Amino acid sequence: SAELNPALLALDWLLGVWESDEPGEGSFSSIPPFRYNERLHFSHVGQPVINFMFNAFHAENKKPMHRECGFIRIQPGGNRVAFIIAQNSGLVEIEEGDLTGQQLTLHTHALARTSFAKEPHVQQISRVFQLRPDGKLEQTVSMAMEGGPLMQHLHITYRRSS
Ligand code: HEM
Repeated sequence: SAELNPALLALDWLLGVWESDEPGEGSFSSIPPFRYNERLHFSHVGQPVINFMFNAFHAENKKPMHRECGFIRIQPGGNRVAFIIAQNSGLVEIEEGDLTGQQLTLHTHALARTSFAKEPHVQQISRVFQLRPDGKLEQTVSMAMEGGPLMQHLHITYRRSS
């Protein structure tokens, strides 16, 4: 396998495969609460870029649900991080934010959707990834619809699976 590009050293704690240790919790004011499992893959090929895939599954019937994939870039010589994301729902997004230790806080920088996307349309997404002292990875996602407040949609913790 390729040697890690030194540009990625500050993000090496993300690399590998992560699996939800207990089902994640989904919510939003307009939908019934739900539970899901999710598997995250973060890999590299020697470029100063992380490749990622996030695949969510129904907690009970195991059916595939939400999927995202994309790339992570880090500002050369800085702590600015960008996620370039494609979602199976028809959304594409760039989220940006700052890396502080082993915590990443991201906000939508650009967002586009298919012409026939269902309403309501998301306007803003924020997420926090954090490697906790107990070795678990935690992700919290909030979103805002057109004219609405930013509210939590997802909260989940993962354990390293490889
Ligand atoms: C609903 C966005 C990730 C499961 C929704 C809705 C939006 C949305 C806009 C519709 C809310 C409404 O009808 O008022 C997003 C975004 C995500 C994301 C932007 C990623 C950043 C996920 C993930 C799951 C998930 C990882 C895991 C299974 C659901 C479910 C619903 C829902 C079950 C309710 C039923 C439905 O509308 O399909 N999400 N979501 N979402 N989301 Fe997400």
